[in-house]
Amino acid sequence: MDKSPLFYGSDVHQLWQERYREDASGTLPDNEVLRVQLSHQSVRNYRTDPLPEGALEAGIAAASSAASSCNMQNWSVIVVTDPQKRAKLAELAGKQDFIKVAPVFLAWIVDHSRLVRLARHEGLVQEALDYEEAHLMAVLDTGLAAQNAVTAFESMGLGTVYIGGLRNHVAEVAALLELPPRAYAVVGMCVGYPAKDEKRHIKPRLSQDVVVHKECYDATGERARITEYDRKADAYQEEQGLPSRLWSQVTAKRISTIKGLDGRHVMRSVLNQLGFPLK
Ligand SMILES: Cc1cc2nc3c(=O)[nH]c(=O)nc-3n(C[C@H](O)[C@H](O)[C@H](O)COP(=O)(O)O)c2cc1C
Repeated sequence: MDKSPLFYGSDVHQLWQERYREDASGTLPDNEVLRVQLSHQSVRNYRTDPLPEGALEAGIAAASSAASSCNMQNWSVIVVTDPQKRAKLAELAGKQDFIKVAPVFLAWIVDHSRLVRLARHEGLVQEALDYEEAHLMAVLDTGLAAQNAVTAFESMGLGTVYIGGLRNHVAEVAALLELPPRAYAVVGMCVGYPAKDEKRHIKPRLSQDVVVHKECYDATGERARITEYDRKADAYQEEQGLPSRLWSQVTAKRISTIKGLDGRHVMRSVLNQLGFPLK
């Protein structure tokens, strides 16, 4: 593995400390996969250099190796390198200009169209695909595949960032990528070498005593722990030279009105138009 200082911390205990801003309570296993995973950071600052030979193919092999509901493998990925197309995607994703800089953009496609073709070939219809459950399975499979690719790319010293902004204009993106009915880009991803001045910035996450529940759900004591997380997340903001803010307030505000959906509140009807009945 490429031991990039960005994606390969020296020790899992140290990485745990950076991620949670507290020490692990006991001994932890330590291996290269854990180090890469715990070192994750989104990169929005890229070099234009192409990916090294075989990197894309290895990343996609990692994606293909993710588990898949019923092994239906109902995702596809569109590899976009054409600068004009990337510029258009950057625009559609809400002027995220680093999409124009990173050499590769991956559009992760929730793809029921292949299963429709497969059913047709067998002389069958695809009644089960019309249901929300089938859509959920495909979204989950696509996300699992994409995240496997992220870890693979990071293990090679490459940076990535997901682009959910692609869903701001799902139908336009589908047209640009010439997707068939029953396929849409659920998320995009930039891939490339981080720019030389990209610093390590491991963003703290909610502590395990907030997200982990033993045997049954129990939110007792959650508020105090979230306040503690707010403090850590705000310290991160300050270290990064970003405006001070409390994660819980920003998050609560984001979900308080449909404005926080950036126009995506129409998703169900757009997906209906793209061929997903979502019964
Ligand atoms: C589904 C999804 C969509 C995302 N969309 C965007 C995006 O459009 N633009 C962006 O800059 N970051 C995007 N991100 C990255 C998140 O902002 C980032 O993962 C989060 O702030 C945590 O930071 P970290 O990845 O550096 O730990 C997205 C992440 C996910 C999982």
